[in-house]
Amino acid sequence: MQFRTLVLVSALLPFLSTGYASIVEHVDDLPTQEFDFVVIGGGTAGNVIANRLTENPAVNVLVLEAGGFDENDLNTKVPGFFGRDMGSPLDWNFTANLGLATDNRMGTVARGFVLGGSSAISGMVYTRGSSDDWDRYADLTGDSGWSWDSIQQYIKKNENFTQPSDFHNISGQFDPTVHGFDGISSVTLASYVHKFDNLVIQSSLLRDAEIPFKLDPNDGNNIGLSWGQATILNGERSSSATSYLALQFRKRSNLHILLHAHVTRILRTEDDHETTFSGVEFTQDAGATFQVINATKEIIVSGGAIGSPNILLNSGIGDAETLTNLGILSTLDLPSVGQNYTDQGIVDYIWIVNSTDPNDFLSQDESVREGQLEQWEQNKTGPLADGALVTGCFFRLPDNASIFETVEDPSAGPNSAHIEMVFTSSNVGFPPEAVGNVTNFILVSPNILTPTSLINLNLLSSEFDVFALREGVKAVQRLLATTPFQGFILQSTTNATTDEEIDQFVRETIIAGLHPVGSAAMSQKGADWGVVDPDLKLKGARGVRVVDASVLARRLFGIFLESEN
Ligand SMILES: *[C@@H]1O[C@H](CO)[C@@H](O)[C@H](O)[C@H]1NC(C)=O
Ligand SMILES: *[C@@H]1O[C@H](CO)[C@@H](O)[C@H](O)[C@H]1NC(C)=O
Ligand SMILES: *[C@@H]1O[C@H](CO)[C@@H](O)[C@H](O)[C@H]1NC(C)=O
Ligand SMILES: *[C@@H]1O[C@H](CO)[C@@H](O)[C@H](O)[C@H]1NC(C)=O
Ligand SMILES: *[C@@H]1O[C@H](CO)[C@@H](O)[C@H](O)[C@H]1NC(C)=O
Ligand SMILES: *[C@@H]1O[C@H](CO)[C@@H](O)[C@H](O)[C@H]1NC(C)=O
Ligand SMILES: *[C@@H]1O[C@H](CO)[C@@H](O)[C@H](O)[C@H]1NC(C)=O
Ligand SMILES: *[C@@H]1O[C@H](CO)[C@@H](O)[C@H](O)[C@H]1NC(C)=O
Ligand SMILES: *[C@@H]1O[C@H](CO)[C@@H](O)[C@H](O)[C@H]1NC(C)=O
Ligand SMILES: *[C@@H]1O[C@H](CO)[C@@H](O)[C@H](O)[C@H]1NC(C)=O
Repeated sequence: MQFRTLVLVSALLPFLSTGYASIVEHVDDLPTQEFDFVVIGGGTAGNVIANRLTENPAVNVLVLEAGGFDENDLNTKVPGFFGRDMGSPLDWNFTANLGLATDNRMGTVARGFVLGGSSAISGMVYTRGSSDDWDRYADLTGDSGWSWDSIQQYIKKNENFTQPSDFHNISGQFDPTVHGFDGISSVTLASYVHKFDNLVIQSSLLRDAEIPFKLDPNDGNNIGLSWGQATILNGERSSSATSYLALQFRKRSNLHILLHAHVTRILRTEDDHETTFSGVEFTQDAGATFQVINATKEIIVSGGAIGSPNILLNSGIGDAETLTNLGILSTLDLPSVGQNYTDQGIVDYIWIVNSTDPNDFLSQDESVREGQLEQWEQNKTGPLADGALVTGCFFRLPDNASIFETVEDPSAGPNSAHIEMVFTSSNVGFPPEAVGNVTNFILVSPNILTPTSLINLNLLSSEFDVFALREGVKAVQRLLATTPFQGFILQSTTNATTDEEIDQFVRETIIAGLHPVGSAAMSQKGADWGVVDPDLKLKGARGVRVVDASVLARRLFGIFLESEN
């Protein structure tokens, strides 16, 4: 780990004052062993909770983060370096079987192992979901607080829509009426636009465009092709560590952050008859010794869609029979823990292009990269100032698609897409091997948004997913055949054209989309399934909430599932 011994390095020294050094590396450096709230995981969600709770000076909060923190690490700071973070020391490096349909290929599931969690290593794409999605959460939980209309005030409270770092005129590239301008998390548009991205926008403005231009992808109806929005501030990545734990918040004397603290379990309060959990067990030396810290009010589990169910299961919270068979003492029988994990499958579809722009060669040419970094360091502009997407698009299968004769539409409603098409220039810092060593290329990757495959990463285990991704590949082929791309697109890297060939191509190339949800799902109070109530409190227990993407159950009741496992 590159983390320097002293908590906040020299750049921050001018700000040091009593009670400021809220980030420590050793448990002995904490002022106490008991806090009102203990947040497990300083990630995308955990840092928001820690920030909001410590607005009240009477409440003290400890955040336990397994990874480290180096504010000056360019790999987290430079948006265009996101491609380097996967498989690096900033990544938990989970691996998973992608499923029978992929011939049991193993795939990696990157998750952030650093303060800021996956928001510190992601592609920074800002997507709110559709109004239908939120209304379905409200329906599923019986709590109207989750509806699109109810959630708007929080979406705006979170967001500070800012100018991109090149200060170009952004009028006509987003809808200001649907954004917030006073929040903590910065959202912006791309600063550097590749030729390819201009062609993508042009294609959406054709009179007969299959996927027409949409002013703003985040207004509740995401169908269309738009300029992408990203969590970037002044050309630097904005993660929960740089936003919700920005300097002014780290100064709060009631906020404490312990790094390199790997949480293993939460513990039941002794002599308690109400299934209260108050202890948090963790290790700082790979299990040689364990520490316990108590939460007098609540434990907030924010370990992410893999980490959170993992901690709950280790704590004996899960299917009692399964845990007992594994030799884990059951503390609370909740069979849904760790079930219903759902991820999007993405097919990276590479095309060779005719370009002489050296900025299309970044991943192959070190000197180009150096020039780009120089520009970024100078004034935070250039290709490295952008995240994964400059443009993006969402679309639905047509209502008369043959699949709907046998399968109920798994989308949340007519405002919700089945497929996201992701446009990536070659300038993403992927290692050359990852893209078959081609030099001039783009990626146009269909991504299923409404997967119906179940059981871990059992990608493509449902007929619907196979159909939708096949249609996604065909839509990519149709789009790149339109006039704006003539002379630019040279060659597809697959010759697949028939349904069978496309299906084969999808099976061979699909990978995890890295947007997992559902493994500690919320459901109605009193439901016979689910892990948390709509207020995110652990069912059947006191003193614990789960707050992260694992609570999002995106599936419908009664959906048709073809089980293959
Ligand atoms: C992930 O893999 C990289 C490369 O092998 C390694 O350096 C890093 O330590 C791994 N991450 C963790 C959390 O072990
Ligand atoms: C940033 O610097 C580059 C040269 O490296 C220059 O072309 C560009 O205009 C500058 N942008 C801004 C917004 O200052
Ligand atoms: C930005 O563009 C819009 C529409 O193209 C135009 O009306 C407006 O005057 C421009 N603003 C500036 C500051 O140039
Ligand atoms: C939003 O971001 C802008 C640009 O950095 C900054 O000037 C402004 O203070 C921010 N607003 C809030 C409420 O933080
Ligand atoms: C934490 O709580 C347990 C009882 O649940 C108690 O035994 C232990 O002493 C407490 N630790 C501290 C540091 O207060
Ligand atoms: C999975 O989610 C569905 C709701 O979409 C629910 O009916 C089912 O009980 C869940 N399964 C488990 C094991 O929790
Ligand atoms: C669906 O409807 C469109 C026109 O509304 C038609 O062109 C297309 O052939 C139909 N597709 C199927 C599979 O029936
Ligand atoms: C890419 O290049 C590396 C190193 O030269 C080589 O080992 C690998 O087989 C190549 N991969 C492809 C798909 O050509
Ligand atoms: C590549 O682009 C150049 C310049 O835009 C053009 O003259 C040339 O015909 C293109 N090549 C192909 C094979 O389309
Ligand atoms: C596609 O087919 C052509 C002609 O048969 C062949 O030269 C080319 O290598 C094939 N490309 C791929 C990616 O299979």
